[in-house]
Formats: sequence, C-alpha cells, structure tokens
Amino acid sequence: MADLKVKFLGIEFANPTILASGIYPTTAGALLKAVENGAGGVTTKSIWLEAHKGHPAPTLLTTEHFTINAVGLSDEGVSKSGPEILAYKNKIAEKGHCAPVIASIVAGTKTDFGFLAEKITQFAPDIIEINISCPNVEEEFGKPFACDVKSAVEVTKIVNKFAANAVKSRTKLPVIVKLSPNVLDISEIAKAVADAGASGFCAVNTFGPGMVIDLEKRKPFLSNKVGGVSGPGIKPLAVRCVYDIYKATKLPIIGMGGITTGTDAIEFIMAGANLVGIGAGVYMRGPQAFKLVCNEMSEWMDSHGVKDLQELVGAAHK
Ligand SMILES: Cc1cc2nc3c(=O)[nH]c(=O)nc-3n(C[C@H](O)[C@H](O)[C@H](O)COP(=O)(O)O)c2cc1C
Repeated sequence: MADLKVKFLGIEFANPTILASGIYPTTAGALLKAVENGAGGVTTKSIWLEAHKGHPAPTLLTTEHFTINAVGLSDEGVSKSGPEILAYKNKIAEKGHCAPVIASIVAGTKTDFGFLAEKITQFAPDIIEINISCPNVEEEFGKPFACDVKSAVEVTKIVNKFAANAVKSRTKLPVIVKLSPNVLDISEIAKAVADAGASGFCAVNTFGPGMVIDLEKRKPFLSNKVGGVSGPGIKPLAVRCVYDIYKATKLPIIGMGGITTGTDAIEFIMAGANLVGIGAGVYMRGPQAFKLVCNEMSEWMDSHGVKDLQELVGAAHK
C-alpha cells in the first residue's frame, strides 16, 4: 500500500485526511473518535474568547448532493474548549497516534483575535487556524474579515504577533488562514494574507449563504433561513479556489469542500493541497470516512504507480 504520511509546516501527519472544523464538538473524546476512525489530524470547532450561542434548531440538512448548515459557530469559549485540546494531546500521546490538532479561532474584532491567539497558545495546539469568515463588527456594514483585504491582513498580523508573544521560549506556532470562497478573487486575499505572515491556508469555508425551502411548511427549512453550503455540490468550485491559491502563493494548503472519496482527495492534492479536510463527507459516509478515503487514495496511487503523495501536490499546474 502507498505511504500516506505527510509533513505539513514541519509537522508529521500519519495521513492527509483532517477532520474539518465544526463537524465534531471540541471535546478530547470526540476528536479522538475521528483519529480512531483514521483521521491524520483534527481541527476544533471555531473557538471564541467567550461562550457563543449558536442558532436554534433546525441548523443542519444533509442531502446526497450538498449539506447546508446554520449552526452559528456555537462554542463554550476558550476557557472551556482550550483545555480539551490539551486533554486530546495527552490521549493521543498515551495511545501513540500521530494526529496533530489544529485550533480554529474566531472573533468579531481584531483585538479579540489577538487575545484569543495568546490564550489558545497556552493549550499547545500544533497549528492555529484563523476563521476569518465572521463579520468584522468594527466595520460599518459588518463585512466578513475574509471579504476585505485590509481586515484579512490586520487579523493575520495581530494573531501572528500575539501567538509569537505567548511562546517566547518555544518555537512560534504556525498560523494558517481559513479563506472564504465568497469573494470575487480569492488569490488577491491569499496573496495579501501571505505577505502579512500567514504560514499557509485552509480552503475553503462554506459557500453562500444558501437556502432550502420546506415544501410542506412553505418556508425556509433552517430556523436561520439561510446557511453555509458544503458537500459534493461545491467540489468543483472549491478545487478551483485551491488551484488559484496555490498558483498565487505556493504556501501549504489544507484543501476541502465536498471531499467524500479518495479520488476527490487526490483531485484537491493535484490542485495544490498538501492535506485534505473532510466535513460533510463524515455525514455522508459515517465516522469511518477518513479510513475509507485513505484506503481509496492508496488504491488509486498503487494502480497508478505513485509511491509518494508529494509527487501529486500541484501536479495539475505542470
Ligand atoms: C455543521 C458544520 C459546521 C461548521 N462549523 C465550522 C466552524 O466552526 N469553523 C469553520 O471554520 N468552518 C466550519 N464549517 C465549515 C467546514 O469546516 C468546511 O470548511 C466546509 O464544510 C467545506 O467542507 P465539506 O464540504 O467537506 O463540508 C462547518 C461546516 C459544517 C457542515
């Protein structure tokens, strides 16, 4: 079987499949469950400085072609979610797994992003992921940080600075930025954020907002009316985003958006991803999605004489 080990930002991952942010709750047990089902790494739900209430049910609909959600980034806040990261690290060390943890952080102001970066660092995640898809409440129209070059750059700089301050005696944690696909030119944002000091990217977050109408009730299915769209239907759009980011920056990328099979994962890798996130795929194929995707990747590599996954990264650009 082909070897699927990956080094990403100098960190070893047993395989390239990563639990995407928001799919499992931020508890050591839930994150470990993903690893025991084959994930090479895990991402926490996006963590806020203080507890954050999400939207009321119904918040999620999964169909064969897409998933729509308006969970609303619910979280217990860094003082409760942070210690789960440490507990997770202890559990995987005990069991001898090689599955780094990525702490996703989110805030409504750049100052809060800074404080949060400092606080989260104390719980020793392997990587910090900045979720910039949230509205910037300091901005007149509350435009998401991800949709404005200046805001995206400011957040990247402040998180980098605070993450570095918090670990004076250790190596600074890598900071990756999770980009929104809901922009006209994703390479413009990627380039600016790379220049501001991002170590890499996670791409992409959900598309939208979208809406599903419940025919019987004659009203939107989600209590929030609109939600973010993910799953198989967004895959070609997400692959194009990863392709554009790789072309613009050459920085490491965790690619995601509709990955449910091994060949989906290979497509993202050929577009330029080093690791691949699975979100909606967990709803579609069950918790063992990670194992299934890895087996299918290995089978494809074996049947195509590919021994090293690295050989495929960005192959579609050559
Ligand atoms: C129910 C649900 C909750 C999510 N919560 C978060 C979140 O807290 N933070 C985040 O950055 N992305 C969140 N996402 C987005 C996913 O991490 C991922 O970027 C997106 O769903 C595309 O991947 P997929 O098609 O494999 O699901 C969420 C997605 C879903 C379906």
